[in-house]
Amino acid sequence: MADFSVKIKGFIFNLDGVIVDTAKYHYKAWLRLADEMGVEFPPEQHEQLRSLSRMESLEKILEWGGLYMTEAEKLHWADVKNNWYQGLIAHMTPDEVFKGVLPFLEEVREYGGKTALSSASRNAHTVLKSTRLDSSFDVVLDGSAARKAKPHPDCFLQAASALGLAPSECIVFDDAVLGVQAARDGGFHTVGVGKQEDLPDADLVIPGFEGLSLSDVLEMMPWTPLSMVETEG
Ligand code: G6P
Repeated sequence: MADFSVKIKGFIFNLDGVIVDTAKYHYKAWLRLADEMGVEFPPEQHEQLRSLSRMESLEKILEWGGLYMTEAEKLHWADVKNNWYQGLIAHMTPDEVFKGVLPFLEEVREYGGKTALSSASRNAHTVLKSTRLDSSFDVVLDGSAARKAKPHPDCFLQAASALGLAPSECIVFDDAVLGVQAARDGGFHTVGVGKQEDLPDADLVIPGFEGLSLSDVLEMMPWTPLSMVETEG
C-alpha cells in the first residue's frame, strides 16, 4: 500500500447511516409518533431529518402537520419517541453493521491510523454495544457531549482534538449534507457516504465501504495542497 501516513492520521466516522442503518429505527419510532398525531409521514420525508437532533426532528414533524406544542409537551413526546427507539435498537445485532465497515476499520488500524466515532445521538453507546462495536474506535463522542449542532463543526473538532490531531490530518465520513458541511467548515477532508447527487460538497463520495479498501479511498481523494501536511523527520 502507498504510504499516506504523513498526510492522514485520523479517521472520524458518523454513526447513523455510515456505520449502521439506524435511520430505519428512527423512522419507525417517528412514524409511530406522527400516526398518533395524525401527521402524514412518508419515508421520503424522513430523509429531511437526517442528522437533525431529536428536538429538531420533532419540530419538523410538528411543522409538517401544522401542529403546535408547548416546550413541556415537546420534551414529553421527544422522550416517548426515544423510549420507542430504544426498544428497537436494543435488539440490534452485529449483522446490522454495514458491509465492509469492519475490514475497513481493521485496515485503518494496520495502517496506524486513529479512529473516532462522533455521533449526535445520545443512544450511540447502546447501538455500539448491541452491534459489538464498543471497542472498535479509539474515541467515542455521543450526543451527550456539550457542543453546537451540525452544521457547526464542533462535533468533529472535538473528535480530532481527542485524537490529538489537526483537522487537516483527518478524514470525516458522513452521510448527510449537514455533516459534510460541518466537516468542510472545520477544515477536514470529507468523504460522503451515499449518492454523489445528494452530497455534492464532499471531496469524495462512496456508496459504502463494501469492496473498498483504505488505499482505494485515499487514492481517490482529490488531494489539495491543504491536505499535504509536512512529513515528519
Ligand atoms: C443522529 C441521527 C438523527 C437523530 C440524532 C439524535 O444525528 O442521524 O436522526 O435525530 O442523531 O439521536 P438520538 O438517538 O439522541 O435521538
